[in-house]
Amino acid sequence: MNKPEIGIGLVGSGFMGRCHANAFRSVPGLFEVPTEPRLTMLAEASDDLAARAAQALGFARGTGDWQALVSDNEVDIVAITAPNLLHAPIAHAAIAAGKTVYCEKPLSTTAALALEMTEAAEAAGVVTLVGFNFLRNPMIKLAREIIESGEIGDITGFRGRHAENYMADAEVPHSFRTDPQGGGAVADIGSHIISMARYLIGPMAEVQAECRTIHAARPVAPGAFERAPVEVDDMTHALVRFGNGVSGSLEANWAATARTMDLSWEITGTKGALAFTQERMNELELWSGAAGRSGYTRIESGPAHPPYGQFCPAPGHHLGFTDLKVIEVAELLAAHAGGASCGPDFREAYEVQRTVEAMQASHAKRQWVAL
Ligand SMILES: NC(=O)c1ccc[n+]([C@@H]2O[C@H](COP(=O)([O-])OP(=O)(O)OC[C@H]3O[C@@H](n4cnc5c(N)ncnc54)[C@H](O)[C@@H]3O)[C@@H](O)[C@H]2O)c1
Repeated sequence: MNKPEIGIGLVGSGFMGRCHANAFRSVPGLFEVPTEPRLTMLAEASDDLAARAAQALGFARGTGDWQALVSDNEVDIVAITAPNLLHAPIAHAAIAAGKTVYCEKPLSTTAALALEMTEAAEAAGVVTLVGFNFLRNPMIKLAREIIESGEIGDITGFRGRHAENYMADAEVPHSFRTDPQGGGAVADIGSHIISMARYLIGPMAEVQAECRTIHAARPVAPGAFERAPVEVDDMTHALVRFGNGVSGSLEANWAATARTMDLSWEITGTKGALAFTQERMNELELWSGAAGRSGYTRIESGPAHPPYGQFCPAPGHHLGFTDLKVIEVAELLAAHAGGASCGPDFREAYEVQRTVEAMQASHAKRQWVAL
């Protein structure tokens, strides 16, 4: 029997828009999903951009007006991959129309706006999901299982970092990422390592942070001679205390020369330790403390770590970044069919945003800030 079809409306067709489109196209061939995604409509900044992107990414229709997409009767899930400032208005319109909302991180530009979005979604009872795709990695799920099983004992420390080099050059122009309203490394990629820390260790109770701007000015647009001051951080370092008493540190850094995807962490326990970096996303390092066995052991991802086997029956062949988005979309479709969010939902993304703002407030006040 044919599965019921479900209409996908995608807003934005840049880096993340293409990842979302690929995930919706691929998911039925890889996962037992309850519905068949139909690529119904794509919204872009203009009709022309939308028409070209819709054709390139396999959507039936394109529009230069995201409001038309949100109110279209054939769209059931609204996927938001537009710049951060647009997340709130698009999400509110989609929630009002009773649609499932799949929004990229950070949820919004301020914690206050993120809370409004969360409360609106909860009041309307719509399913929400936020694109913290790195949590979908089977190696991250395995790490959480190892921690919960007590295999590495009581957790004593967390050292986390999300470091990339895409803003290391002062010639990289301004974009929504450097918008004083909600931009900066701590919001852009700090949100990923904060969500990871919360997933593995739990909520943070207190933070003390320093936010630094490395490049004081950047070109106003690609290739422009004119420069405008940078008002957001290029790197943030924070000391953190988790609610369960664990201490640690976090770094968000988009000017990390030489680093391309160092979303990494090390977790110490009384009996062992774990370490991970997204640059080697198919590996988890475990130190189990056996006598005469010092040094980390490398665990390689394979079919023993669901849902790796959905992609490949053989170990060592490796998943990639875009596969994490496919896993995320498989869970989204299940959540949509079941009528309940699978997490990380808007509420969780609001908590992440609150943590980002606590770090910024700590920097401004030069003191610890409680969450
Ligand atoms: N989950 C992840 O790993 C990840 C990675 C990168 C970016 N992101 C997030 O995804 C979002 C987009 O980032 P990106 O890197 O894809 O940016 P991008 O600049 O590559 O793409 C944004 C797209 O939105 C379009 N757009 C702008 N105004 C619009 C409008 N009014 N209506 C419709 N479309 C409009 C732009 O034309 C562009 O195509 C951001 O929120 C970012 O934080 C998440």
